[in-house]
Amino acid sequence: MTAVAAIDQASKKSARKGEAVGVPVRRLGQTYDDAIPDFWFRNNAFLSMFFTGFSATLPEGEDQFIYSVRLFQKKITNPVLKAQVRAFIGQEAHHSKEHDALNETLKKRGYPLGWIENRIRKLNRLMRKHQSPQKQLAGTVCGEHITALMSDYMLGKRPELLEQMAPAMEKMWAWHAIEETEHKGVAFDVYDQLVGDRNLLRRTMMEVTFFFLILNTTHALALMRQTGQMKNWRMWREALGVLGRMGRELRADYMDFYRKDYHPWQHDNRDVLAAARKKYLGEDS
Ligand SMILES: [Fe+2]
Ligand SMILES: [Fe+2]
Repeated sequence: MTAVAAIDQASKKSARKGEAVGVPVRRLGQTYDDAIPDFWFRNNAFLSMFFTGFSATLPEGEDQFIYSVRLFQKKITNPVLKAQVRAFIGQEAHHSKEHDALNETLKKRGYPLGWIENRIRKLNRLMRKHQSPQKQLAGTVCGEHITALMSDYMLGKRPELLEQMAPAMEKMWAWHAIEETEHKGVAFDVYDQLVGDRNLLRRTMMEVTFFFLILNTTHALALMRQTGQMKNWRMWREALGVLGRMGRELRADYMDFYRKDYHPWQHDNRDVLAAARKKYLGEDS
């Protein structure tokens, strides 16, 4: 049986797109309402604003991820990778929709998330105008590395962090982290097969890391202004402790990206993924 026939047959058997190639597309479709407290993460203002700001970047950010992969989609010849790319696009599109729903709820509370969305939209426009398709895909691969590390941290290394979120947020971030893990190698494989320039990838990683930190920090600080918690020193100590430890504990995995032969699945966390799928989605792998 050819690979294409095998995928077709497996796809018919499974209800979900992408299941046969390890990237099942799921719709979460939660509603986000006033039951979500303002300080939904560990009852800590800065941690909550940091990830609220991050959520605001995601619909546009993931749109750019999809856009950059689509620039190469027609050139992919490997049938498995083709199917994985379709599922990657499906997963990221659902992430955008889910974060949009959350962001709309938080906007109604007066958080300036529209300002963050516009900023990312402008950045996307600039990248699409001035960067080559190769550079844009490299940017996506780097963004995916950061999200894969954060996902592994939340699901595997420090699972108590998800449990410290309000229930709807815990479920949403867990679902997102599970799917980021499932598709962590997809954009990388497209880049590897169709571009392959590791020097460009490493240079881009430094830029993406810089922008990721600057943007998310400035967004969180802007959101902090209306929390009335700017002078809560105990809150700051706790928040910086959690984020600082995350940085320290992810450093080695982050640096692996700069190795010549790096591939995302060298960080083999399939056991973490299987446990999280069971715990949060009731799925047996
Ligand atoms: Fe995503
Ligand atoms: Fe992703």
